[in-house]
Amino acid sequence: MKKRLITSALPYVNNIPHLGNLIQVLSADVFARFCRQRGYETLYVCGTDEYGTATETKAREEGISPRELCDRFNAIHTEIYKWFGIQFDHFGRTSRQVQTEIVQDMFKKIYDNGYITQHTIEQLYSEKSDMFLADRYVRGTCPHCGYQEARGDQCENCGKLLEPTDLIDPKSQIDGTTPVVRQTKHLYINLPAIKDKLEAWIQTASVKGKWAKNAIQMTQGWIRDGLKERAITRDLKWGIPVPLAGFEHKVFYVWFDAPIGYISISADYTPEWKSWWKDTKDVELFQFIGKDNIPFHTVIFPASQIASGDNWTMLHHMSSTEFLNYEAGKFSKSKGVGVFGTDARDTGIPADVWRFYIFYNRPETSDYTFTWKDFQEKVNKELIGNLGNLVNRTLSFWNRFFPLASLELDLSIPLIADFHQQVKAAQVRTSEFLEWANLRDGFRNIFEISGMGNKLFQDNEPWKLRNNDPELARNILVSLLFLIRDLAIMVRPYMPASSDAILGVLGLDTQNVAWSTLAQWQLWPGPSEFAKPDLLFVQLEDDLIETLRLRFAGSQAEREARQNDAESKAQADAQAEILAPDQKVALSLEDQFTKSVELRVAKIVDIARHPDAEKLYIETLDDGSGTVRTIVSGLVPHYSEDQLLGKNIIVVANLKPAKLRGVVSAGMLLAASAPKPEGGEKVEVIFAPDAKPGDQVYLEGHSASGPCPTISIDNFFAIPLHCDNRNVLLGTTRLLVADKALVTHEVLNGEIG
Ligand code: 2FM
Ligand code: ZN
Repeated sequence: MKKRLITSALPYVNNIPHLGNLIQVLSADVFARFCRQRGYETLYVCGTDEYGTATETKAREEGISPRELCDRFNAIHTEIYKWFGIQFDHFGRTSRQVQTEIVQDMFKKIYDNGYITQHTIEQLYSEKSDMFLADRYVRGTCPHCGYQEARGDQCENCGKLLEPTDLIDPKSQIDGTTPVVRQTKHLYINLPAIKDKLEAWIQTASVKGKWAKNAIQMTQGWIRDGLKERAITRDLKWGIPVPLAGFEHKVFYVWFDAPIGYISISADYTPEWKSWWKDTKDVELFQFIGKDNIPFHTVIFPASQIASGDNWTMLHHMSSTEFLNYEAGKFSKSKGVGVFGTDARDTGIPADVWRFYIFYNRPETSDYTFTWKDFQEKVNKELIGNLGNLVNRTLSFWNRFFPLASLELDLSIPLIADFHQQVKAAQVRTSEFLEWANLRDGFRNIFEISGMGNKLFQDNEPWKLRNNDPELARNILVSLLFLIRDLAIMVRPYMPASSDAILGVLGLDTQNVAWSTLAQWQLWPGPSEFAKPDLLFVQLEDDLIETLRLRFAGSQAEREARQNDAESKAQADAQAEILAPDQKVALSLEDQFTKSVELRVAKIVDIARHPDAEKLYIETLDDGSGTVRTIVSGLVPHYSEDQLLGKNIIVVANLKPAKLRGVVSAGMLLAASAPKPEGGEKVEVIFAPDAKPGDQVYLEGHSASGPCPTISIDNFFAIPLHCDNRNVLLGTTRLLVADKALVTHEVLNGEIG
């Protein structure tokens, strides 16, 4: 019997995964479910990738320990995957003790076998924080263009690649001090010395395991460019200690330990883990990753395995997908752009519908762009129009016209025999696709089979045929019932809940779903009466899609800025009911695209914590109108009361008042997102120190004349608002107030200079 060991890339723990990341865990889930239905012995492991600079820095920023940060995010990941219906055999963590043991053991073997070298390099060091600084945590003046905020790895202004030691007047982004140059010693894995064995393995494995094309190309590229020694240690605290004299204060580089996580997570799951990972003959390792992770899985990790001298199970099939892009750009965790796991859940659209879309369009051979429009079209046309329709029409027709008829199928009727043969042949194709994890092709094939069922129904017009040839009509319907059962089995790896629902209306056992029972159409395996088919899937209507498109436009920080408090649904509802000046009725969704938003400067004259909400402040504003205005905003995590009191802010002045945890908020203040030194973005309130309460804010190039210069709501909500060094930009256009550009450079980090 085949044994299939299945892994999906271990997601970094310090972020919430977006749809683009979810593809990997979902893909491995579909494949594992398929393998289980096929009767293969299957082990699917995944877990959070927890060590490294990013985690350590984020924890420091939040004032908690890396362990606490990891615990928090591991729980978030676990919950998201549960919501998506992912059936891991084990979802573990790289921060477990067993990981340390296996990583250190593997390292010692690689070291003893002579594949580790040492080099001393120069790196910037903060004496204040007593730490070496990763390149991107140093900023200074670019020696090429003079840009003062250039990052240690690259100047964002002229684009030139830099060494942190190139920067003029470098500053640590961690503590603001001037770092010093210090020497530090690191360990390297000597890839050139492993090259011959590695190349021989790659040659054979990539062909035998039918690696995805991008994996083969990228791996060959690496080999062609010449393998170099690669550092496997870092000067950090949050990581696995290096068990070598002279390296006591260093840890392994996260990419050295992460792939070993696949092994340790298996070990964490079962004492039998070696029967999956060591000295095995019959285990096939299928790995699911995104294309950005290819070299780590086809070069570096296999090189470590080979260099250790142990007989490890090595990569068999590499399923490396291209990228899923989002609307006009890329999904981005650091920028917070896209639909995140928690967002998908919050839309109220069931997990299976997301799973449908992801697999119907899985980016197997080229990048794919998620758009809300495309999501709507594919779901309505294919999932509902094809599969949902077949289930619905077949069962409704049967219940209406043949409720008590026999479910025996006469396979000697040529039309029926033909149909059965066609379906069977198509099922063989589906199985072949799935055997090699060609999940999109397999899925599309299943929808073609469903289409064959709809065609049989349509072509034979059973609503007429049941009068002329009732027996043939009955046989057609019975074939369709069998077909629906087969479809429920075939879509099961992709859409498990829908499979349960279909089997449920058919009155069939949801345990009896072996792949080998496909095309067995002689004997109906369940009771002879069926439930009334409920709507399996709900159409995605235009309104909903448009609302979601707007709601998820821009980055997470921008959404937060717009929404002020992601928790407060009421605020979001208020956004959907923006009023035109002087109008006192809520606008329809359509009107929102034509009406205007009114932005005014207002001064915070009083501020207090909301009594019932952790993140909310209640602010009293002087907006120049003569009467005070109260707003509620979710800024507690970002600003202290002192940082806000007495400041001029920008208020969206014509929102319909909304209650936030019991307090009425008449508007919202504007905040933008600003880049953080280490990547990612943060919420930045826009202050207007040079303007006065009541001044209007407008887009550059638009006229400020008339009583109310406005920005269209379409622009306002759909276009990201952000700070670019000092300007506040709506998309690429500057915001102006009182004839001057609105600037924020004084307030980066929440401090008015
Ligand atoms: O890209 C990522 O999210 C990495 N954490 C993937 C690691 S895969 C493996 F090697 F653990
Ligand atoms: Zn530059």
